[in-house]
Amino acid sequence: MTDAGRAAHWRGKRVLVTGGAGFLGSALCHALAGLGARVTALDAMFEDGGANIANLEGASVLLVRGDIRDVELHSLCQGVDVVFNMAAQTSHMGGQKDPVADIAINAVSQVRLIQVMREAAPKATVVHASTRQFYGRPTDLPVDELHPVNPPDAVPDTAPDVPPGAPRRAVAGE
Ligand SMILES: NC(=O)c1ccc[n+]([C@@H]2O[C@H](COP(=O)([O-])OP(=O)(O)OC[C@H]3O[C@@H](n4cnc5c(N)ncnc54)[C@H](O)[C@@H]3O)[C@@H](O)[C@H]2O)c1
Repeated sequence: MTDAGRAAHWRGKRVLVTGGAGFLGSALCHALAGLGARVTALDAMFEDGGANIANLEGASVLLVRGDIRDVELHSLCQGVDVVFNMAAQTSHMGGQKDPVADIAINAVSQVRLIQVMREAAPKATVVHASTRQFYGRPTDLPVDELHPVNPPDAVPDTAPDVPPGAPRRAVAGE
């Protein structure tokens, strides 16, 4: 798509970026707002992640501070065209330390968002971020989409009958 085509596509679109003050979310906010989209960023501004108010400096974006676990999502999602869902607890060790919070943010909240979207904007596109963890320990750098997947924690080392090449559990801290 050409730059002009991209701008024509996004101009006036209503977009919600969860995790919008983080590393990827804020880059998306800048890009989308620059293309003329009406962007709302939702972010809990947690200090142990990538959130930083400075990430959104210069972007024409409405920042809503809220936790995707309990924020009133319906009004945020009402009538949006696209959701880029980047809100996440991204620390592997953080997930080991507090698995309940990890599941609440990275699993339960994602289902809650989809449930709300079904009512508030059923025709919208929802883009979920995947995770770098799928690729496991890198065999080549940079890790791109063609890198073999080898997610840690997927199959315990002790599991019987693990087929050759199946993902193995990584040692905590890797
Ligand atoms: N950075 C990468 O290289 C990479 C690669 C592949 C996938 N991803 C995925 O992309 C997504 C974003 O990653 P990132 O690198 O931008 O991380 P990040 O930590 O910079 O951004 C995540 C944002 O989500 C916010 N957040 C966390 N919990 C929240 C909650 N409960 N409610 C609202 N906001 C919350 C944080 O405050 C933070 O601003 C994640 O799902 C990550 O797994 C990232």
